[in-house]
Amino acid sequence: MAKSPASFTCTECGAAHRKWAGRCDACGAWNSIVEETPLGSGPPARRTGAKGRTIALTALSDDAPPPPRTCSGLGEFDRVLGGGLVPGSAILVGGDPGIGKSTLLLQAAARLAGAGLDCLYISGEEASAQIRMRAQRLGLDGAAVRLGAETSLRDILTTFEAERPDLVVIDSIQTIWADHVDSAPGSVAQMRAAAHELVGFAKRRGTAVILVGHVTKEGQIAGPRVVEHMVDCVLYFEGERGHQFRILRSVKNRFGPADEIGVFEMTGSGLAEVTNPSALFLSERDAPAPGSVVFAGIEGTRPVLTEIQALVAPSPLGMPRRTVVGLDSGRLSTILAVLEARCAIPFAGLDVFLNVAGGMRVNEPAADLAVAAALLSAREDVAVPPDTVVFGEISLSGALRPVVQMENRLKEAEKLGFSQAIAPARGGAGATSALTVREMEDLTGFVGEVFGAG
Ligand code: TYD
Ligand code: MG
Repeated sequence: MAKSPASFTCTECGAAHRKWAGRCDACGAWNSIVEETPLGSGPPARRTGAKGRTIALTALSDDAPPPPRTCSGLGEFDRVLGGGLVPGSAILVGGDPGIGKSTLLLQAAARLAGAGLDCLYISGEEASAQIRMRAQRLGLDGAAVRLGAETSLRDILTTFEAERPDLVVIDSIQTIWADHVDSAPGSVAQMRAAAHELVGFAKRRGTAVILVGHVTKEGQIAGPRVVEHMVDCVLYFEGERGHQFRILRSVKNRFGPADEIGVFEMTGSGLAEVTNPSALFLSERDAPAPGSVVFAGIEGTRPVLTEIQALVAPSPLGMPRRTVVGLDSGRLSTILAVLEARCAIPFAGLDVFLNVAGGMRVNEPAADLAVAAALLSAREDVAVPPDTVVFGEISLSGALRPVVQMENRLKEAEKLGFSQAIAPARGGAGATSALTVREMEDLTGFVGEVFGAG
């Protein structure tokens, strides 16, 4: 019988390769490719000629009422899940080590236990006594969450089958070890096998399963990426280590909107919800300074105002620096190119530093105009009026494109005491907010009007 082709997988990005190589062409990581042992080393389980059994089919219109969601009462957490925890759902929570995943999930499990769910928290990283100590510190020692410290998948599943809980938290998927898979814990094959079994259990028994996964590279979920497709919901917990803000972002959700965010603050006694993120992100703002611009953005279903800061300085280097935190660096290059080509404002010979305040990440194209405004303001050393918010997408021709949810952005700005907005022209749609909207057709007009240059 022909030998089944060997399969090699990159442990960093999950890309499949036919041959071993020192470097993964998909993500560029070195020494990350490992051979995967196929499940079961015998002949492939193909029963030639054997008939399968007929599966039961149901009509699309069968109206079994959707199972009720359970709200933890931790509003920001419920929001990211799309309005509470769905029974039988499989959720992956990824994030850097030490960012606060265990803290968040222990707090959420305690709240859900308070809401009547039977919750189990299985840790492969900490002993039960350590978790208990953390719970005491969080003031949760009275919560009805049962703890387990275990890494064997077989024992964990046996326990789950016996207990039939409503929610289980597995902290973390990298520590779980399946004895039928012949590779080290944390490897792609182990993680896939563990996730497959745990997700299968979730679907079979209607138990919600939350898997914790560590990320090892900036902005990229490393190992756990390979299980993203198996779960219903993928959440990333992000934030800067030095900042107290933490953002829980849903990047995939089968039961609610993706790209929703929940904002938390890490305090001495755990994570506290931040119900008005705009106020928090702007609270650190100093006196109006050149290079600082407030961007009225939309995160998921709600508007969030953030401060975009730029610093432009003469560069001693032949190839000036472009340093970006919280935004896409490709987008910065595009905006710099458009400013140079369409408005004749060169940034050659200048170092550019761009930052979103508070450890927030902005992915919207609507931030383009705010970025351009911050860059120009820093370059020209002219402050944008402090009562002004800016948003709009810049096209390569230098035209400004209207953005979604303009009214929501304006309303949020108004609520936070802003009196003016600089935005793309919206083609005759009436305004309902009290903000003065300075509508701009293109980038050249914007530069001329706001900075008196161009
Ligand atoms: P943790 O939840 O252990 O992170 P993860 O599970 O993502 O690896 O969080 C650890 C960090 O959180 C640690 O640096 C200390 C900080 N922390 C607080 O600031 N306050 C608290 O109440 C707790 C429990 C942790
Ligand atoms: Mg942890």
